[in-house]
Amino acid sequence: TIENRIQHLLSQMTLREKIGQMVQVHSSSDANKELVRQGLVGSLFNEFEAAKVAEFQRVSTQESRLGIPLLIARDVIHGYHTIFPIPLGQAASWNTGLVEKAARTAAREVSATGVRWTFSPMVDIARDPRWGRIAEGAGEDPVLAGAMGAAMVRGYQGDDLSRPDSIAACAKHFVGYGATEGGRDYNTADIPERTLRDVYLKPFKACVDAGVCTLMSGFNEIDGVPASGNAFTLRQILREEWKFDGFVVSDWTSIQEMIVHGFCADSREAAREGVLGGVSMEMESTCYLDHLESLVSSGEIPLSCIDDAVRSILRIKFRLGLFENPLPPLPPAPFEARPEDLDLARQLARESCVLLKNEDSVLPLRKAAGSLAVIGALADSPLDQIGCWAFDRHLPDIRTPLAAIRGAVGESTKIDYVRAFTDEAAPRPETDEAALQAAAAAEAVVLFLGEGERLSGESHCRAFLDLPEHHLDLVKRIHALGKPVVVVLITGRPLTIPWIAENIPALLLAWHPGTMGGPAIADLLFGDHSPSGKLPVTFPRTVGQIPLYYNHKNTGRPPIEVERKMPMGTPLDPVGFCSCYLDAETTPQFPFGFGLSYSTVSYGPTLVKAEGGSFRVSAEVVNTGSRPITEVVQLYVRDLVGSVTRPVKELKAFQRIPLAGGEAREVSFLLGPDDLAFHHRDGSYGPEAGEFHAWVAPHSQGGTPAAFVLS
Ligand code: IFM
Repeated sequence: TIENRIQHLLSQMTLREKIGQMVQVHSSSDANKELVRQGLVGSLFNEFEAAKVAEFQRVSTQESRLGIPLLIARDVIHGYHTIFPIPLGQAASWNTGLVEKAARTAAREVSATGVRWTFSPMVDIARDPRWGRIAEGAGEDPVLAGAMGAAMVRGYQGDDLSRPDSIAACAKHFVGYGATEGGRDYNTADIPERTLRDVYLKPFKACVDAGVCTLMSGFNEIDGVPASGNAFTLRQILREEWKFDGFVVSDWTSIQEMIVHGFCADSREAAREGVLGGVSMEMESTCYLDHLESLVSSGEIPLSCIDDAVRSILRIKFRLGLFENPLPPLPPAPFEARPEDLDLARQLARESCVLLKNEDSVLPLRKAAGSLAVIGALADSPLDQIGCWAFDRHLPDIRTPLAAIRGAVGESTKIDYVRAFTDEAAPRPETDEAALQAAAAAEAVVLFLGEGERLSGESHCRAFLDLPEHHLDLVKRIHALGKPVVVVLITGRPLTIPWIAENIPALLLAWHPGTMGGPAIADLLFGDHSPSGKLPVTFPRTVGQIPLYYNHKNTGRPPIEVERKMPMGTPLDPVGFCSCYLDAETTPQFPFGFGLSYSTVSYGPTLVKAEGGSFRVSAEVVNTGSRPITEVVQLYVRDLVGSVTRPVKELKAFQRIPLAGGEAREVSFLLGPDDLAFHHRDGSYGPEAGEFHAWVAPHSQGGTPAAFVLS
């Protein structure tokens, strides 16, 4: 068995060689190659050139004393060569099947180079869109994030991890990184244990249940203890409670950063806290390599602790079949995207788009419109379309929206493109004039607005989420022409766009949609398909409302609907003694779960029936228009009274339901006691008897509630 093989290998290893397995280096330098030869490296990452990977693997398996293969890693976050929408966009599809397929494609593409481990999925719950890394996760809800994370794990790891085209997944960043203060990256997270367990840990548990091979510890601290030295989360919860038997890698230098946190005096202490905390492999810094031998000799770290860490690393190497097949056949065939993968990228990008507004059915546009003005640099910017964390994208395959729009209309319509709304700080009067002229001459206008690729991702946080003022000025001038205007929003996060949301009739959110984002957007603009995405995260009206998320607590004084007597923003506008602002609404611009289609959908009343020890919750959902659509039907629950206060609503399940024009379907969910469980004051976990409300709803603010009682 694998466990016997691990034990046999371990019995031959020197302490130094064991420590070597716990070391991860990131470059294929000669110095690192020498370390590999000495058996002092367990993993190499960020080297993806097949020839270099092969050379390192050859040295490890043929020139090191025990011939243990390296685990080669790469950040493959939303595709390798074929890029899918950013993970936040993928979550907006609510389509776990497609997300799983996308991860499978990424695994197949990257494994051809010898890489067998990716640092994905990121399942950090993010309630603050200022945080740049919100782009990399599934948004604000633990059930949706868990479903997306588990789908990615299944896709990367496949049915058989030892197949050469399967790769190990890594759920990150364990844990609480998304709760970073003020949305500033790497910052402190202050999370009470109950919220940690009921919200932040949930998607990680879903990934562990899906068999994820590895986890990455975060940069943040929680309650004074850095995530990379946190025995409570890494040992007690992950290993003891969840029985996780893979391994944990630190984030980049996060072991060493425990010194800067003020948690460890020096790198020796950092190594000790990291290992005792439960991090098996150190990424990039060298505290383990430099100090673990002496820490074991002095008795500060028991040898059994090192053995356990090494065992967990070797276990994954054995499961991946690396001892039998350390490398794929070489040289890899030159990359050529498979048509079915491009189709998949197009479908996922299409399903990720969220139609936020469509007044007067401005969309879909007619292909034979005569003339169309397409305005905005984001309509034709391959890299911005791809988004963050996509270093290995295959540029020749990228189809921009401009190219796709031209392709879709053919000769029938004149497309007038103006490269306005660039990321330059100052307005460019000539371009603005050209944009106005193009808009004035066109039958309809499509504006591409938002933020470029460089404005989201790691360490790319923003204090303001508005569009640049001169962009908005130009939008207003174009709007004043009285033409039908569509805004396509290209972005890595929710932006604050109140004027656009109120004044522009049609608004399509496309995120950073990836390689086939252009054709996907064109498919929707011209109505070849109907939008079906729904928001995985709340869109605030203004940054001052943040944090704003749907599953909040009620408080003792929830906002009351008062008729404002003075215009918003007037000092001392009487709004009542409740939890709200004098100068901003309490409601979001667009709520979690929201998204329109090209048809209209009505929801009947929610019905609840007891079924065994569970509840059958259902509602009739009707496509009241004539177009076929897919509707993401969501189930929300509120536990009215608890031994601790409960959120005003929690997503429990969802289904994507295809509906032909005029079709009515009864959509039902089975809600079990486990779905109603939470952590109580004494730390125990389970549902509490009492009254609940359930909503089968189109989004987090919709549907009609039905009461039921759990006895
Ligand atoms: O995987 C990433 C992580 O998410 C952030 N820091 C660097 C790691 C490796 O590139």
